[in-house]
Amino acid sequence: MAQILGIDIGGSGIKGAPVDTDSGDLLAERHRIPTPQGATPAAVAQVVRQLCEHFSWTGPVGCTFPAIIQHGVALSAANVDKGWIGTNVEELLSKETGLRVSVLNDADAAGLAEVAFGAARGQAGVVLLLTLGTGIGSALVNDGVLVPNTEFGHMEFRGKELEHYASDRVREEEDLSWERFAKRLGRSLRYLEGLFSPDLIVLGGGVSKKSAEFLPLIELRTPIVPAKLRNSAGIVGAAMHAGLR
Ligand code: BGC
Repeated sequence: MAQILGIDIGGSGIKGAPVDTDSGDLLAERHRIPTPQGATPAAVAQVVRQLCEHFSWTGPVGCTFPAIIQHGVALSAANVDKGWIGTNVEELLSKETGLRVSVLNDADAAGLAEVAFGAARGQAGVVLLLTLGTGIGSALVNDGVLVPNTEFGHMEFRGKELEHYASDRVREEEDLSWERFAKRLGRSLRYLEGLFSPDLIVLGGGVSKKSAEFLPLIELRTPIVPAKLRNSAGIVGAAMHAGLR
């Protein structure tokens, strides 16, 4: 059994748990530390070290980050401190913890986990996952293999970045009814459907808990389901990714 510590770096909390990457099970209760104010690289790295210490971890670590992560380096910072751009996050966290740390985008991690153990388990072909939260994250997985850093949340749609049109933050800020939110999301998903012809779409992020309110209002030819792993998807996907390397 491969045991890897999965860590999910989010805007409000940094959460971790050891994961059995064969079953996707968490091997201990998740531990959460609030994301430090400002969330600079140095401050976040310290929290990641504290999480490793909490579990007395000495093995490999997988970590998510909410930005483009190309070969360990952050190349964007839409909703995080701009100081992350150009930072080799893998190097930073490996140095701070003294452990081997692998890093990938947060939505990519959720996509890997949902395909292996969650809402898209057993689904052959192309799975598109979108996480709707402060921003919009995306993952594209074909027969279990991820195409990393798709970043559909930054695709221009109706004159805006998609995440400024149909994220959960926009729904709250503009006080959109479920009908109006479903209309925006439906348009966005039909566009992505036309480009990628996925076999299944999975919707994650906090708002997916309320999917009964808006999913039935969306007309698509592709089946669409809410994410299953919710709180643990990032942790499990980060551990899986570290296990693949
Ligand atoms: C970031 C993505 C991230 C998504 C969800 C977007 O603003 O650009 O990298 O996956 O938010 O956190």
